[in-house]
Amino acid sequence: MTFKDKYGPTALVAGASEGMGAAYAFALAARGLDLVLIGRRNQLLERTANQITEQFGVKVLPVCCDLSDADVVKQINDAIGDLPVDFLVYNAASSYIGPYLATGLATHQGIATVNMLTPLSILHYFGGKMVERRRGGIVLMSSIASFQGSGYLATYAATKAFSRVLAEGLWYEWGPLGVDVIACCAGATATPNYLQTKPGKASLLEPKPQLPELVAEECLNRIATSPSFVSGTGNKLVAFLMQYLFSRKRAITTMGNGMQKMYGIKDDGTLYPFK
Ligand SMILES: NC(=O)c1ccc[n+]([C@@H]2O[C@H](COP(=O)([O-])OP(=O)(O)OC[C@H]3O[C@@H](n4cnc5c(N)ncnc54)[C@H](OP(=O)(O)O)[C@@H]3O)[C@@H](O)[C@H]2O)c1
Repeated sequence: MTFKDKYGPTALVAGASEGMGAAYAFALAARGLDLVLIGRRNQLLERTANQITEQFGVKVLPVCCDLSDADVVKQINDAIGDLPVDFLVYNAASSYIGPYLATGLATHQGIATVNMLTPLSILHYFGGKMVERRRGGIVLMSSIASFQGSGYLATYAATKAFSRVLAEGLWYEWGPLGVDVIACCAGATATPNYLQTKPGKASLLEPKPQLPELVAEECLNRIATSPSFVSGTGNKLVAFLMQYLFSRKRAITTMGNGMQKMYGIKDDGTLYPFK
């Protein structure tokens, strides 16, 4: 049975104008699925949509909206009408790198909205419809940052733990009802978003950033085989080390020290409290 026969003809990718989200969109179009693509930058979104239509001849509907809006499910619904969503990738994420107190509470709450609250709404609605139809597939983008706390990335890492654990719970509930759910725990991936943070090297053993296309492809091939997975061989080794060989204290310290090194963060507490 083909991927399209198994899951259905239409996929929605939330956060699809570039990078990893666009890679999922191309990979799903290559499997013959029509697409609904979501992002805030309309021009970029339309360019991605046009490239996909030209290359694969599938229908692509770009929907320009902000996944931090409280009524985003209604906005998506208004745009797609009664089109059923058979496959869903929640890719978009918001993040902040730096000392927790060196930015306002609104930044942390904004990250929680895009990375946790909106996925809950989208899953409740579109996932609920899939369960009713007893057919569908769902990918939640997580990260290897989900396996331990990370200083200077504390809120983002915590939201990625939320995505992974949520996907794993729904894998158990919804798998027997015909809906496959998987969390994709990526490591550093060479997307425009990641590269614009200008990351340095945390250690000589750090895996090279993966190409987004490889992450998307591995994920779409892994869905239905496990509740969550770590993408790429190097990241699998790092995740194994951090989870099973290092003590909790050592894993967390390694992450925090790595972040300080990668981003040249010198934290002596003089920035606090944030005003
Ligand atoms: N890149 C990495 O190194 C890495 C590592 C581990 C995990 N991940 C995970 O992989 C996923 C992709 O991350 P990425 O940073 O590489 O991003 P990306 O897929 O390259 O870009 C993010 C996409 O989401 C859209 N987006 C972001 N916020 C949005 C919002 N509020 N409303 C609507 N669309 C929004 C962006 O488009 P607009 O700006 O046009 O809205 C863009 O198309 C995330 O879940 C991330 O946690 C990434």
